[in-house]
Amino acid sequence: MHYSTREIMGRVVVLVILMLVTTPAWVAQGQDQESWAKRVDTGKEVVTTLQFYFHDKLSGSNPSAIQIAQANGTNNSGSLFGSLFMIDDPLTIGPDPTSKQVGRARGMYGSAGQTDLGLIMVISYGFTDGIYQGSSFSLLSLNPALNPVREMAIVGGTGLFRLARGYAIAQTYSIKANGDAIVGYNVTIVTYV
Ligand SMILES: *[C@@H]1O[C@H](CO)[C@@H](O)[C@H](O)[C@H]1NC(C)=O
Ligand SMILES: *[C@@H]1O[C@H](CO)[C@@H](O)[C@H](O)[C@H]1NC(C)=O
Ligand SMILES: *[C@@H]1O[C@H](CO)[C@@H](O)[C@H](O)[C@H]1NC(C)=O
Repeated sequence: MHYSTREIMGRVVVLVILMLVTTPAWVAQGQDQESWAKRVDTGKEVVTTLQFYFHDKLSGSNPSAIQIAQANGTNNSGSLFGSLFMIDDPLTIGPDPTSKQVGRARGMYGSAGQTDLGLIMVISYGFTDGIYQGSSFSLLSLNPALNPVREMAIVGGTGLFRLARGYAIAQTYSIKANGDAIVGYNVTIVTYV
């Protein structure tokens, strides 16, 4: 059978119209499309705000932050470029280190700025109080620690913070000559019901 160009064009136009007016199966229901994969559009978000203080203690016989590595040139760098610290810092509800502890920040920060102080923070903030016991969020961001206020990204979490995304606003509350610092955090996290 032979079709004229005109007939072929006519069929193509009909096909395109059909494709436009019929909704593809993967858009149609949003749920249970395959036996092995389900999509559920709940549309329900939960916003959690947290306020706590982070105690980073470099001094003394029992520091909560310890230097674990540095580059050959770190000592010659004003920003300590190339130094790396492991931390296990308490988180409390007030700036006083003896105020109620609600969790711990565990992870690493390293100096990633050659010309100015920029700490790359790779830290899990785990909580031990109330309904947040056992839940954590993960922060991964550059912290220009000498700035009065810093914003850092929250990229995930566990427990009540499963699928977290959000941000932390950090503000240094106090810092001593030996490097011991207390930092206030206001955190906003979005998760799902
Ligand atoms: C470390 O620095 C010293 C002095 O600045 C230099 O002599 C040495 O070669 C450097 N070592 C490496 C592994 O770069
Ligand atoms: C850097 O300085 C510290 C403290 O002064 C010293 O212990 C360390 O050996 C120095 N490191 C290098 C690579 O020079
Ligand atoms: C956190 O928010 C409170 C209330 O708005 C504010 O007083 C405080 O200064 C904020 N702290 C930080 C570290 O941003």
